[in-house]
Amino acid sequence: MQRIALLTSGGDSPGMNAAIRAVVRKSIYHGREVIGIRRGFAGFIEADMGPMNLSSVADIIHRGGTVLRTARSEEFKTAEGREQAWENVGRFGIQGLIVVGGDGSFAGADIFHSEYNLPVVGIPGTIDNDIAGTDFSIGFDTAVNTVVEAINKIRDTATSHERTFIVEVMGRNSGSIALSSGLAGGAESILIPEREYDLDQVCKKLNRGYKRGKLHSVIIVAEGAASGIDVGKEIKRETGLDTKVTILGHLQRGGNPTAFDRNLASIMGAKAVDLLIQGEQKKMVGMVAGDIITMDLDEAFKEVKPLDLELHKLAAILSI
Ligand code: F6P
Repeated sequence: MQRIALLTSGGDSPGMNAAIRAVVRKSIYHGREVIGIRRGFAGFIEADMGPMNLSSVADIIHRGGTVLRTARSEEFKTAEGREQAWENVGRFGIQGLIVVGGDGSFAGADIFHSEYNLPVVGIPGTIDNDIAGTDFSIGFDTAVNTVVEAINKIRDTATSHERTFIVEVMGRNSGSIALSSGLAGGAESILIPEREYDLDQVCKKLNRGYKRGKLHSVIIVAEGAASGIDVGKEIKRETGLDTKVTILGHLQRGGNPTAFDRNLASIMGAKAVDLLIQGEQKKMVGMVAGDIITMDLDEAFKEVKPLDLELHKLAAILSI
C-alpha cells in the first residue's frame, strides 16, 4: 500500500479538515503518498484529484468545512459512474481509499469495494451522529455547542419579552442534535423523529410553567420530527402565548471545530491510515466508551443507530 487516496463526502462537518490533516501527515510519516480527491465521489469520477504534501494541510486544523470540498454524487450511484472512478484508480495508481462522511458515503465506498476490491476505510464525519458502531462522529460535538450557544442567546431575549421560542435544529432522520442540545440547553420540550410527540402535552407543560412564573420557554424541534414553523403556529393557536420560531439551519454545519472534534478527527484519521497499511479491506473507525475501535464498514451503514431515549426522559424530568 504505497498510494492512499482520500475524499470527504456528503454534508460537511466541522473537524473534517483535522481528519484530512491527520491522514496526510500520518501517511507521509510512514513513507506513503496521498492523493486528495476534491468534491467527494463526484471528483473521483471526474479525476478531480492530485497529490498532497505536508504543506497542503498546514493551517487547517482549526477550520470548519473541508478543504477537499464535498458533494452528494448521484452519478456514483450508477455502475457507469463507478466504472469511470475505477479507471481513475488505475490512472493515479491508487491502492486504498479513505472516505470521511456519513452512511450514504459509506454505502458508496462499500459497493465500490465489492465491485473492484479496492481497500476502503470509512471515518464517520457528520453532525447528525447517526452512524451505528460509534458513539461519536466528527462534527457532532461542534454542532451541539453551536446550538447551545444559540439557545443561550435566545434565552436572553426570550426572558426579556416573556416569549416562547421554537428552535428548529438539523437532523433529517436523527434527533441526536436536538436531544443533546436540548438537554444541555434546558429546553422545556424536545421533539425528535425517534419518538411520537403530543403537542397538547407540550402546550399543557408550557401553560403550567407560565402559571408557576416562568418567564420564557424553549422548545427544540429536530427538522425530521416536524417543521418548527408549524409547531410555532400550533402552539400560538393553542396557548395564545407570544411564540417565535428560529431555524438554525446550516450555521450548525460551520464554525471552528471544538477541541473534542479536532482530537477525534486526528485520532481517527491516523487510525484509518494504519488500517490500510495493515492490509484491512473494508473497515470503519469508531469510538466506543472512549476507545478507538474498528468494525466492518457495512455494519455501520446497514444498521440504524439507536438514540438514547432515557436521555429524552431525563430532559423532560429536569425541565419540569
Ligand atoms: O447530514 C447532515 C445534514 O446537515 C442533515 O442534518 C441535514 O438534514 C442535511 O445534512 C442537509 O443537507 P443539505 O446541506 O444538502 O441541504
